[in-house]
Amino acid sequence: MALTHGGQLQQVANQYQIPAEQWLDLSTGIAPISYPIPNIPLNIWQDLPQQNNDLLTAAKHYYQCEHLTVTNGSQAIIKALPELWQNKLNTLTLDNKDPADCAHHVYLPQYGYKEHAQAWRNAGYSLHFYLDELPAIDEIQANSVLVIINPNNPTGLLFTNETLLTYQKAMDELNGLLVVDEAFMDVIPSDQSICSQVANCNTLVFRSFGKFFGLAGIRIGFLVANQSWCEAFNEHLGPWQVNGPAQLIALHALRDNNWHLQQKHTLAELRNELEKLLWQYLGHNIISDIKGTDLFLTLSFNETSDLNAEDLYERLCQQAVYVRLTDEKDRLRFGIPTQQQLIKLTKIFKLCI
Ligand SMILES: Cc1ncc(COP(=O)(O)O)c(C=O)c1O
Repeated sequence: MALTHGGQLQQVANQYQIPAEQWLDLSTGIAPISYPIPNIPLNIWQDLPQQNNDLLTAAKHYYQCEHLTVTNGSQAIIKALPELWQNKLNTLTLDNKDPADCAHHVYLPQYGYKEHAQAWRNAGYSLHFYLDELPAIDEIQANSVLVIINPNNPTGLLFTNETLLTYQKAMDELNGLLVVDEAFMDVIPSDQSICSQVANCNTLVFRSFGKFFGLAGIRIGFLVANQSWCEAFNEHLGPWQVNGPAQLIALHALRDNNWHLQQKHTLAELRNELEKLLWQYLGHNIISDIKGTDLFLTLSFNETSDLNAEDLYERLCQQAVYVRLTDEKDRLRFGIPTQQQLIKLTKIFKLCI
């Protein structure tokens, strides 16, 4: 079954019968300011994409890691992983014939990007969900998989690097796999990323390119892992996964330190302004807290409030503002608006709250 995601503007526009171009789309965690597209020479469009060593070097520097694989986004890796993990497990457990050791268990956040759960469920795994605390290490089964979205989308919850290293060691000892989805890590201080600490472990880190660089449409991303995992994914995915123009754009973007600094600064300012606006118009009577990152903010609602997440979603849609109502329908996630979009949003809040 296809899952619901933000970014389905055409569908929502049809539903509310308001032309798509009139909407303010804050339904994703994609930065509202995009890396400027460089000049792309004709041969990059004409030729088949090849391994781009300059891109690999730039990405290793940006993500501070030893090995990585270029992907067409984390989504492709999420879908492919259960099969590849099964292959690894078969080789790892070749000498260990106890069938109990080969049980299929995966631990996932209850709230979080749902494609992870979907991929493991489709592969026949038993899913165990955790809330704000990771499962106790002594309860984790051998040969299992632990998925951590860090920081979490939509809750914004961030586990420290120290915590991740503790779980990394535990999962290695359990002959298991640690998966860390760092789709929104670019806006968090870089010492919290685990990318530089996975070269000798059974840990995979997913880095999305499209969110921080505001270019989700070009479909490029990176898998950071040990060499054996990178080779397994390269072989599984085959050639020409990522088109040449996307590789060239990412090469420029990853190397551009000044732009990274400016983008972080701008996103932090815009996030603060959005947060102020939300508190000003909704206040403590309606919302209980706002969590998130500099790429999105998620509102929780007071149980006693007359206005709940679904009501506000509806009111905003009627004014052609598209935000993300969580699957549980209890929270709203706002993407970060530009200055101009903030002005528009303020007018709409004045009108409908
Ligand atoms: C936490 C998380 N991981 C992964 C993805 C997929 O990202 P992409 O395939 O664009 O890299 C998303 C998309 O929203 C996400 O929120």
